[in-house]
Amino acid sequence: MATVSPDDILNALRTVQDPDLHRDLVTLGMIEDLAVADGAVSFTLVLTTAACPLKEQIEDEVRAAVRTVPGVRDLTLRTTSRMRKPKDPTADRKALPGVAHVIAIGSGKGGVGKSTVAANLAVALAQAGAKVGLLDGDIYGPNLPRMLGTRRQPAQRDGKILPLEAWGVQFMSMGLLVEEGEAVVWRGPMLHGAVKSFLHDVDWGELDYLLVDLPPGTGDVQLSLIQQTFVAGAVVVTTPSTVAMEDAVKAVNMFAKLQVPVLGVIENMSYFTCPNCASRHGIFNSGAPDERALAMGLPFLGAIPLHPDVREGGDHGRPVVATHADSDYARALKAIAGHLAQRVSIQTVGTEQG
Ligand SMILES: Nc1ncnc2c1ncn2[C@@H]1O[C@H](COP(=O)(O)OP(=O)(O)OP(=O)(O)O)[C@@H](O)[C@H]1O
Ligand SMILES: [Mg+2]
Repeated sequence: MATVSPDDILNALRTVQDPDLHRDLVTLGMIEDLAVADGAVSFTLVLTTAACPLKEQIEDEVRAAVRTVPGVRDLTLRTTSRMRKPKDPTADRKALPGVAHVIAIGSGKGGVGKSTVAANLAVALAQAGAKVGLLDGDIYGPNLPRMLGTRRQPAQRDGKILPLEAWGVQFMSMGLLVEEGEAVVWRGPMLHGAVKSFLHDVDWGELDYLLVDLPPGTGDVQLSLIQQTFVAGAVVVTTPSTVAMEDAVKAVNMFAKLQVPVLGVIENMSYFTCPNCASRHGIFNSGAPDERALAMGLPFLGAIPLHPDVREGGDHGRPVVATHADSDYARALKAIAGHLAQRVSIQTVGTEQG
């Protein structure tokens, strides 16, 4: 019987490409702890994100490739993930030590569903196995405590504020620090201080993704956030209406000016499916959402339908990706979370390799 060497296995694995990163798994450094003894092969496949939607496809291709090597009688495949942390090209912003990727969720127009989308994406990424934080960047109108159904005074440890956990997500919001219903009346410099504290005085621990739910528009908080830490990418949420899209373009331009790459656009309230006749209605616009994203020159991350359950889930602190996992809106949100994780990995590996 043929004797198998580690090189035989690596050569076979060189034929398997990561479908997103377009390089083979060995070149990408994704194969670790390779051991071969009497035809029994074992190694660890290290993916770039726990939320990789292509995990099973890659595992299947790996198994098939190893099977082609003569003499292999057994394969023990362990799959894990390790975040690759992007480097700040400017190197003058203070990094968050344990956080791999800070991702801003913005829009030009208010009320398009940023907070709803941010909360559900955070929960979906956590469900997929990623370590996720969610920072409510809306200092004047914090909605996340309600949308996550958790409102308590956060504890402190060693001079740092501890985030609260809800639905597997670590989160922090101005809404936890003021009485419910109380207005925050602050001017620019205080706002700047609050954003700084939320980033650097909160003990975020080890996170794969820290999503930041921004207030609408292109104002002080957006600027503060980007000046205070390295934001790896931004997601722009819009509805299909022309006014929302016009404002989304402004948000895209703002991120471009601040040198934050836009990872993609999400179209929320994209359509409504009539519960009686099952026909689709484009309430805010008709036509193809991906073409609208393309017209903005941005990758399309996905479309979310308008559905009363989504609003109700937000109002009652029960994110629909957790409570209505099989609905079409939850599936859409979970698919978007996967696409987002893919875009982040593609961008990070792209910058690593220049
Ligand atoms: N897909 C959806 N289907 C039904 N209702 C939705 C959907 N997305 C968001 N909503 C509802 O629309 C309203 C506005 O959403 P949300 O607060 O998330 O928007 P926002 O962009 O964060 O607003 P702001 O600009 O004020 O921060 C909320 O009542 C929310 O529950
Ligand atoms: Mg909001």
